[in-house]
Amino acid sequence: MASRFRGVLAATGLATLITAVPVTMAFRSGADPLLSGGAPFGANCTTCHDFNQGPGGVDVVGLPRRYRVGATYEFGIHIFDPEQKGAGFELSAEGGGSHLGTLLITNATTTAFPVSGTPTDYITHTHEGVDASIATWSIGDGGYTYDVGWEAPTVDAGPVTFFAAGNAINDAAALFGDRYYSGYATLPAGTIGDADGDTDLDLLDFAALQRCFSGGDQSVGEECEWLDFDDDGTVSLSDLADWNDVADGPTAPFPADYVLADAVRGGKLYDKWWIVNGAAEPMGEHPLYPMIGSQFGSTTYRCKECHGWDYEGVAGAYASGEHFTGIPGVLGTSITPREIFALLKADPNDVTNGHDMDSFGLSDRDLWDLVKMVREGAIDTSDLIDENGEFPGNASSGGFGYSLSCVFCHGSDGKAVGDTPIGAVAVSNPWEFVHTVRFGHPGAPMPASDLLGWSSSLIIDLGAYVATLPTE
Ligand code: HEC
Ligand code: HEC
Ligand code: HEC
Repeated sequence: MASRFRGVLAATGLATLITAVPVTMAFRSGADPLLSGGAPFGANCTTCHDFNQGPGGVDVVGLPRRYRVGATYEFGIHIFDPEQKGAGFELSAEGGGSHLGTLLITNATTTAFPVSGTPTDYITHTHEGVDASIATWSIGDGGYTYDVGWEAPTVDAGPVTFFAAGNAINDAAALFGDRYYSGYATLPAGTIGDADGDTDLDLLDFAALQRCFSGGDQSVGEECEWLDFDDDGTVSLSDLADWNDVADGPTAPFPADYVLADAVRGGKLYDKWWIVNGAAEPMGEHPLYPMIGSQFGSTTYRCKECHGWDYEGVAGAYASGEHFTGIPGVLGTSITPREIFALLKADPNDVTNGHDMDSFGLSDRDLWDLVKMVREGAIDTSDLIDENGEFPGNASSGGFGYSLSCVFCHGSDGKAVGDTPIGAVAVSNPWEFVHTVRFGHPGAPMPASDLLGWSSSLIIDLGAYVATLPTE
């Protein structure tokens, strides 16, 4: 542990940060910057703390689905694990390769900016914050919410992702026995006047304006906030005039539910949805699973089982073998978001190939996340994996990436977590490897490289390196 820790610290340049901070009191009283699980490499608390899996998690709570330029938001980072005793955290707000907006301290007792680095890029716990988490941990679900704030950029800076790292502790003042969790939330910028979030200002928004219109002192809700042009807390005649000046719809190509959906979460759902949304594991075989298939039980409900890790179904890696079903892929589908959504919900008795997924436990929001992933997240994997099923990359630069992003959890041999060494995944199922690196693994606090903005060449190099690790 100690040597691995030093080696990687030298590699990341964190060593300088650590020597600059007195080690004895530095940690319960707050983490160093660059550990929120954000870009560039998803670095997090497992750089030092042992990685252990547990039944907990981190949720970013109380944020709207879009941010308004220049607005201020107060929200929470909820870390929970009924088997632990308290928690610390770190948060960043990032997008397009930089920190976006300004993080704000809303509770100066429990939270602070890290003592080193660019102060406002990260927020972490204080000693008092950890004490407060321990004091109230067992109330409710066995967890604690740190209150934080953020001021949005003054111009539309594209989507922002809040990266939240949480360390649920056993209160032993040590690096052993803690459990690392992570969470995130991605918010696009909204347009004033666009109440529903589909990107245009049309009659749907006008109908919302009528609902919100009060002329009185009624305070506005999430829909109405987007119609309050002058930001005075009510939707009034002057807002109606402003709305009329900018109305431009209907021009939105897609429904708001699609625009606001999260393709990264969709990618995890595509893998094994019931771990992601907490639904009951489905029983028996999915009604669309064909008689010629050789799989049984819940796996026949996974999108990947019928459509493949390469999204190509029978035209790809599942053209033969134990995962053969003869079902086509989803890559490059020509049907619209609404049509996919309807197909995923439809009863197969009513609509040919209706997936009936809502009745097995997928919510509308889950389904929209899947629709977004299928249309925007599915990629042609032959750009990353050659015809021999190998990564044509540079294994030694991939090894450097591994030492920054993966080694703390998976170990230097790739065997530290799970039953399957990740070397075996990279060799025998490179398509699953790419999918997992891009979207993360259901239920695991793994980085998702799509959130970190990695290029395909970085993933190809990483795959080339991991394929050199032990496969059993
Ligand atoms: C550079 C190494 C290092 C990193 C990275 C690190 N910690 Fe720690 N942390 C320590 C050490 C050493 C201790 C034990 C000494 C202490 O409690 O101050 C500790 C203790 C803690 C404690 C108190 C544990 C207890 O049982 O009392 C919390 C909470 C904590 N860390 C949270 C975090 C979080 C959250 C992160 C990631 C955002 C993080 N740490 C990242 C080194 C680190
Ligand atoms: C048990 C097998 C099975 C599972 C599981 C499954 N599908 Fe399908 N899917 C099908 C079949 C069969 C079709 C119809 C293919 C055809 O057109 O012949 C289909 C069609 C589709 C299409 C339409 C493709 C097009 O271009 O027409 C999409 C999109 C799709 N599925 C997405 C998903 C998603 C997302 C999931 C996971 C929630 C999923 N499927 C799970 C069997 C499955
Ligand atoms: C914070 C910890 C953490 C980090 C960092 C992490 N992983 Fe994981 N990863 C996990 C966990 C936990 C699992 C699930 C293991 C299990 O229970 O099967 C997992 C699963 C996987 C799997 C799927 C294994 C399987 O059997 O299906 C692959 C592939 C993988 N990780 C690759 C990587 C790569 C490559 C990196 C670096 C880019 C990485 N992981 C970083 C924790 C992590």
